[in-house]
Amino acid sequence: MEEQLKEIIDYFTARLTALFLSEEDFRQLYDLAVNVQENGRILEIGAGAGCSMVTMAIASKTRGIELTTIDLFQYANYLEYGYNITKESALDKFLENMKFWGLDIKLLREQSASACKKIEDKSVDLLFIDGSHQYSEVKADIINYSPKVKNEGILCGHDYQKCHPGVRKAVDEIFGKNGFRVLKNSSIWVKK
Ligand SMILES: C[S@@+](CC[C@H](N)C(=O)[O-])C[C@H]1O[C@@H](n2cnc3c(N)ncnc32)[C@H](O)[C@@H]1O
Repeated sequence: MEEQLKEIIDYFTARLTALFLSEEDFRQLYDLAVNVQENGRILEIGAGAGCSMVTMAIASKTRGIELTTIDLFQYANYLEYGYNITKESALDKFLENMKFWGLDIKLLREQSASACKKIEDKSVDLLFIDGSHQYSEVKADIINYSPKVKNEGILCGHDYQKCHPGVRKAVDEIFGKNGFRVLKNSSIWVKK
């Protein structure tokens, strides 16, 4: 595991001016995905550069896991946050990264609000929410996608931290103080 994780982090560090995940986020996400059952399903909202999808896919490789990610690739705010990705190059970068890692990912190129109609209820083992970080949209993603997760599945998301007040507010409001936890040294929240 350590070696694989290091390879993933080194790969993205060499290609991006800023990483979408912290080192501990990579580690915690890997740990969550490594426990997904055989022939299970992982779903992500917010493909971005693919840091999180590569991590989950490599952790669950060879177990017949179906991997789906949702992203409209229509947002121009990468540059303003210090990433060397433009609105025009985002999709190509994502695909390039999937090709490098030999991953077969189903990509739904649309708004998460509409893509949710294509996902069956109680079909997902691990849901990772990392799309819009605006309060109302995070809230909508959690509400729309919660029913998609199996009873014993994991519902989690990224960026529960001060610099993303919209994420914190939505998660706090929906789950309440005792309804979720934040994984150690990371900004990944998980529904209890
Ligand atoms: C923080 S980035 C995701 C980073 C990615 N998880 C990674 O590790 O590389 C957020 C992504 O969500 C996408 N996004 C934002 N709002 C969305 C929406 N309403 N529907 C679909 N995708 C959305 C953006 O295009 C962007 O690529």
